[in-house]
Amino acid sequence: MDLLIVDDEASLRDFLSIVFERESWTVETAATLAEARKAIRKNEPDVVLCDLMLPDGSGLDLLREIKEQNPSVGVIMLTAHTSTRSAVEALKAGAFDYIAKPFDIDELKFIVRKIVQHRELEDENLHLRVELEEKFTFSNIIGKSRKMQEIFSIIGRIAKTNSTVLISGESGTGKELIARAIHYNSGRRGKFVSINCGALPETLLESELFGHERGAFTGAIREKRGLFMEAERGTIFLDEIGETSTAMQIKLLRVLQERAVRKVGGTEEFPIEVRVLAATNRDLTDSIQKGTFREDLFYRINVIPIELPSLRQRKEDIPILAEHFIAKFSGNQGTRKRISADAMRALEKYSWPGNVRELENVIERMTALEESDVLSTRSLPEVVLLGTAVPDVMSLELPADGISLEEHLEGIGKIFMLKALERSGGVQTQAAEFLKMSFRSFRYYAKKYDLISRDVKNEHTKNEEEELNP
Ligand SMILES: Nc1ncnc2c1ncn2[C@@H]1O[C@H](COP(=O)(O)OP(=O)(O)OP(=O)(O)O)[C@@H](O)[C@H]1O
Ligand SMILES: [Mg+2]
Repeated sequence: MDLLIVDDEASLRDFLSIVFERESWTVETAATLAEARKAIRKNEPDVVLCDLMLPDGSGLDLLREIKEQNPSVGVIMLTAHTSTRSAVEALKAGAFDYIAKPFDIDELKFIVRKIVQHRELEDENLHLRVELEEKFTFSNIIGKSRKMQEIFSIIGRIAKTNSTVLISGESGTGKELIARAIHYNSGRRGKFVSINCGALPETLLESELFGHERGAFTGAIREKRGLFMEAERGTIFLDEIGETSTAMQIKLLRVLQERAVRKVGGTEEFPIEVRVLAATNRDLTDSIQKGTFREDLFYRINVIPIELPSLRQRKEDIPILAEHFIAKFSGNQGTRKRISADAMRALEKYSWPGNVRELENVIERMTALEESDVLSTRSLPEVVLLGTAVPDVMSLELPADGISLEEHLEGIGKIFMLKALERSGGVQTQAAEFLKMSFRSFRYYAKKYDLISRDVKNEHTKNEEEELNP
């Protein structure tokens, strides 16, 4: 596997090269965007570690270029300690994850390993994911919010019908999970077959879905059954249906109307008895307006719409989801970990642009890396810790539902303290000077907000607390 490291700091490049070469990666390095582009053209990497700020531009631009050319390349952004916004932006632009500098090398190795795992799973899934007997119960889907309860009740009512369902929602909200729940509660005997319509080029997608005759095109050595036939008496899940071309949409519309498929290069029509579920993270009505999605197909699939709320629209689900994932990830580690009340509060406040998947990833990382039994704010990623309290300090808009001023002041305080620490290279007396505060109160707040490392902190904790809070 090939790894590309893009950072202008030579010592960091060298260090990371050594670390990852030892883990049997083939490592390339680049100091600038220009060098990185050249390296990618020469030999496409599987994973890219990319600094956010490069001498000739922003790492985010490189991220976007990479994702445009090949979405399956895993990109990890190296961000500054304080750039919460860029971290969120990176995740939105398709970064697999980000890590704040200075980082723990084990944490970075962990993320890189996760990318590899993720890729292996995707490779298996890309062409065809057929599940034979998956034990599936509703207990896998967590949600006590009214919105989720409503969705559960809809699923209960429609699972046993043959109606087409369109599941929409932001990335990571659980669309696929809901699709499976519908199938496994349908009593249908056939398989659940899922295909990501956005991941395949059109010609390949067509032959995957409908199959092909022998000799239909170069390379079609054998005749092939399509996924629609594979899902006979079961369910086909057309994921990312909004990404299909309009030509493909016409073909899908025909299949849904005629309930029959014709293989690529064939003349015979094969009748099918398949339940169709589709999912999209786009607003399809918007795509219809823009002319990229056919209205007639929309009405065909939107028979039963299920709209999954984003996680920030159902914050009351965050604690039970967090507990669910802690149990899931401490399962194979012996003791079940606990989460501190502070850390839980931070999880509840964060806006979760990546929804349940992001929460799941954060908890997995925390449980894997935390050595004690308690997940505290210290094991939270920076973006969660800070992102929460600063939705829009820059624009200074008062959100419609108001804000908690106290929390915001705290958030702004944390950010300036981190910035001061960064500028002083970690020297706290100097950081305190930048903020025109006494060293002692700097230490008090740094400790309170968990901004300094534990070992240093413990030496002072007791006395300071007594002095400041007599
Ligand atoms: N309500 C939930 N309870 C428990 N786990 C959930 C819930 N919703 C989502 N998840 C978990 O979050 C992850 C993402 O879910 P899923 O793949 O279904 O999302 P998606 O909407 O299909 O995302 P994408 O648009 O990115 O494909 C999965 O690991 C899933 O198990
Ligand atoms: Mg999905």
